[in-house]
Amino acid sequence: MSKTWQVEKKKEHYYKSAKKENYRSRASYKLIQLNKKFKLIKDGDHIVDLGAAPGGWSQVALKLVGEKGIVIGVDLQRIKPFNETNFIRIQGDFTTAKIQSEILSKTNNKIDVIISDAAPSLTGIKDIDQLNTMDLANNVMKIASNLLKNKGNLVMKSFQGPQYPLLLNKIKSEFKVVKTYKPDSSRNSSAEMFIVGLNYKNKKWTDLDL
Ligand SMILES: C[S@@+](CC[C@H](N)C(=O)[O-])C[C@H]1O[C@@H](n2cnc3c(N)ncnc32)[C@H](O)[C@@H]1O
Repeated sequence: MSKTWQVEKKKEHYYKSAKKENYRSRASYKLIQLNKKFKLIKDGDHIVDLGAAPGGWSQVALKLVGEKGIVIGVDLQRIKPFNETNFIRIQGDFTTAKIQSEILSKTNNKIDVIISDAAPSLTGIKDIDQLNTMDLANNVMKIASNLLKNKGNLVMKSFQGPQYPLLLNKIKSEFKVVKTYKPDSSRNSSAEMFIVGLNYKNKKWTDLDL
């Protein structure tokens, strides 16, 4: 059995399941699998989903938090509304001060969990793509330092590259427990890796020295 065949088969499996179960994207399964392993999200939680379009992760988060919870989805792209009234959409660039204060304005309480599947649009130039990825990660952590409650959780997509160890090491000092995980639904050929932080210590984040 060739590797390409196996990869295609897996892609097709998650694509078909997403269609059957009415998920907006195959990516939904990544959050389902991450949450199954790390118990990140619970009933009633307040969640911020960074890089949320088309909404596959928000959809999973809405189910997990139930009616008492809140999910705030942020993306450059428009996110189609959900029937649930506890979903708040913000369209814009979360690396800007404007959108970061808009996120803050939508929540009275601190956030229980930050989830980020954000990825920059690729230029094809490796160094630039890696730096853009690190810039997103840096901003996810900036938002965490303003919004994430003490002992809160975080999951963020990253890509393994030259600056990845630097990012991972810095995040390790921010949470009691930090793990990396690649769910089965993530393609083996992709360099994507998920960084999971449990029990936030709420320290002030200083920018990554890239
Ligand atoms: C892989 S997709 C997310 C898929 C989503 N988790 C789902 O399940 O449907 C990555 C998203 O990150 C968004 N993104 C990238 N950079 C962003 C930024 N600076 N601000 C807001 N969204 C951003 C992109 O627009 C894209 O929709």
